[in-house]
Amino acid sequence: KLPARVKLVDVGPRDGLQNEKQPVPAAVKIDLVHRLQAAGLTEIEVTSYVSPKWVPQMADNHEVMQGIQRRAGVRYSVLTPNLKGFEAALADRPDEIVVFGAASEAFSQKNINCSIAESIERFAPVVAAAKAKGIAVRGAMSCTVGCPYEGEVPPSRVDYLAGLMKGIGVEHVGVADTIGVGTPKKVQAAFEATFKHYGVDQVSGHFHDTYGQAVGNTLAALEMGVWQFDASVAGLGGCPYAKGATGNVATEDVVYLLHGMGIDTGIDLDALIDAGAYISQQLGRPTNSRVARAVLAK
Ligand code: HMG
Ligand code: MG
Repeated sequence: KLPARVKLVDVGPRDGLQNEKQPVPAAVKIDLVHRLQAAGLTEIEVTSYVSPKWVPQMADNHEVMQGIQRRAGVRYSVLTPNLKGFEAALADRPDEIVVFGAASEAFSQKNINCSIAESIERFAPVVAAAKAKGIAVRGAMSCTVGCPYEGEVPPSRVDYLAGLMKGIGVEHVGVADTIGVGTPKKVQAAFEATFKHYGVDQVSGHFHDTYGQAVGNTLAALEMGVWQFDASVAGLGGCPYAKGATGNVATEDVVYLLHGMGIDTGIDLDALIDAGAYISQQLGRPTNSRVARAVLAK
């Protein structure tokens, strides 16, 4: 029943670093991307084309994208909330763009300054333009179990957002637990709601580990046949509009889980741990990956 192979998207350079207070040099971000691809990651979320007033850390998007030595077979994805962002991204030839909506109205307002319905109106021309250029399109769905402003989010809200995403032609959606409050049954309910509109091959999981539930939630999603997940090397990150939210589940921890169950990822765990050690050292703080800590302590 469990998938034999899983694809992991490392969102560390984007989701992981977007909330860092200290500016991280573009050269370090580029180096991190290189280390991730050398470790076997085939999809990396590199940066976002958002307002530098809102998220200063991503202001070097062009420099980072232009500085990467691309490796064949690796997909480089970027966040584009509107046409302005999409047009800025085009010069950097992303393989995939990500529009990002929320299942909760309050989070949509705080994160992208518009209602859910307005966000879909903004995304529609971005999706159409990307498709016209042969660029893949993913839709991130924030707050599919809980919202920092509204509390618990019912599956009906996820159903609503997934339907809207489908309606504007988004090909793939990510079910995100932005603040990491989900537990397996609630996360499964969010996937069930998404499956009303998308097949299992068009859906991925995006779990933040704030409450330590992300590995359990990953297993809960695997049991439903989900085989694509976002994770962040060294467990970097947090969303600037979700106070107290920690990073995504550490990629190292997910790889350890998967390999331990005999599920192939194509990732070299030791090389990944080295990449996590590199960025943690650059940030001057210990890794958030439990697996990396245990392995490095040996
Ligand atoms: P707005 O203020 O509503 O936009 O912001 P606007 O169209 O009214 O424009 C206002 C100003 O922003 C103008 O500049 C525009 O040019 C500029 P000014 O004239 O004042 O100098 N602007 C832009 N600049 C650069 N790139 C753009 C862009 N668009 C407008 N694309 C906007 C709307 C979405 C831009 C703003 O709210 C924003 O940047 N928000 C940041 C959103 C963000 O990056 N959040 C974090 C990522 S989402 C996330 O982490 C969740 C996820 O991981 C899944 C999960 O865990 O839940 C994906
Ligand atoms: Mg996130």
